Amino acid sequence: MRPTRLLVTGGAGYIGSHAALALLDAGHSVSVIDTLERGHQRTIDALAAVGGDRFSFTQLDVRETRPLTALLRAQEIETVLHFAAYAYVRESVQEPLRYYENNVASGISLVRAMRDARVHRLIFSSSCATYGDPDASLLPLREETPQRPVNPYGETKLATELLLASVCASTEGPSTALAVVALRYFNVAGGDALLRLGEDHQPETHLIPLALEVAQGKRPEILVFGNHYQTKDGTCVRDFVHVTDIVQAHLLALGALESGRFKAWNVGIGKGYSVLEVVESCRRATGATIPSRIVPTFATEPRELVADASAIRRDLGWSPRYETLDAIVESAWRYAKRGSVPQA
Ligand SMILES: NC(=O)c1ccc[n+]([C@@H]2O[C@H](COP(=O)([O-])OP(=O)(O)OC[C@H]3O[C@@H](n4cnc5c(N)ncnc54)[C@H](O)[C@@H]3O)[C@@H](O)[C@H]2O)c1
Repeated sequence: MRPTRLLVTGGAGYIGSHAALALLDAGHSVSVIDTLERGHQRTIDALAAVGGDRFSFTQLDVRETRPLTALLRAQEIETVLHFAAYAYVRESVQEPLRYYENNVASGISLVRAMRDARVHRLIFSSSCATYGDPDASLLPLREETPQRPVNPYGETKLATELLLASVCASTEGPSTALAVVALRYFNVAGGDALLRLGEDHQPETHLIPLALEVAQGKRPEILVFGNHYQTKDGTCVRDFVHVTDIVQAHLLALGALESGRFKAWNVGIGKGYSVLEVVESCRRATGATIPSRIVPTFATEPRELVADASAIRRDLGWSPRYETLDAIVESAWRYAKRGSVPQA
């Protein structure tokens, strides 16, 4: 693929920064915008070290439509990868307005800015949270499975998908038609193989990095939210996918954007692991005890979310490098302990 100029929103965050890194590694020019509210300046510094003058960063909120439009024009952006969002399920239950105000308004502002700047190619970070809490008979989840989110986070992701699909369908002519791919990620984990970046949320709420922090003595125990679910051991079941494989899906999707088309693909491994199985995998990787404690859950947690990702494998030739939970956890553990051991 010829080198292009891309905008990565939320590129100081976990997945966006890994995508920016892969794009720079592939020879593209990358412009990142981020408020830095939940991303890190050190992540931007790491990207700048790799990208040199093919990389630029602007501290900007996606909702600031005018400066965003100006940036799209000035940098001659051809494609946007939209990662910027709030992405914590439990927080969204406590603060739904904040989630709608950021996630949905960002989508509206971005589409407006892209239209004004005549940028027509967009890859959107959607989520398995749009499927809600599906009945067991609907598993594994296909793209056609009805989307019925059960928390505000999932609602904002679905609302943005619907917005994008409607805008794609309402073309003003082929030359201005938006082309959108929505990638519905399942649970993303792991880090860059060269340890240049990894998962580093502040605050951290994701199971694998939290369990690894317990292994390192940074937390006393891992809290397991509920063991009353109808699953193999009573805890929730999730499909874990490595961040490098998520990024690879984006690189493949760049070649699948079609003017006037909204297309969604699931991105998951297709295997479900319970919370307790994940903690066990972390124990195997680290050799640590990792005490865990069951606590009642107040948020609406779907019981089981597992992808049928056969469509992206078939349509885009996506083939994940990390096919097991243990391999993903080992990658996350290498990153977590990078400061404490000599790196190869
Ligand atoms: N992590 C997962 O397992 C997962 C699963 C499914 C979908 N997703 C989606 O992937 C995307 C990235 O997730 P992540 O885990 O990297 O989250 P993250 O919090 O690490 O990154 C999001 C980044 O967006 C920035 N941001 C938020 N709102 C902004 C705004 N209005 N303007 C500019 N910057 C803004 C934050 O500062 C942060 O750096 C999100 O859209 C999330 O919903 C993540």
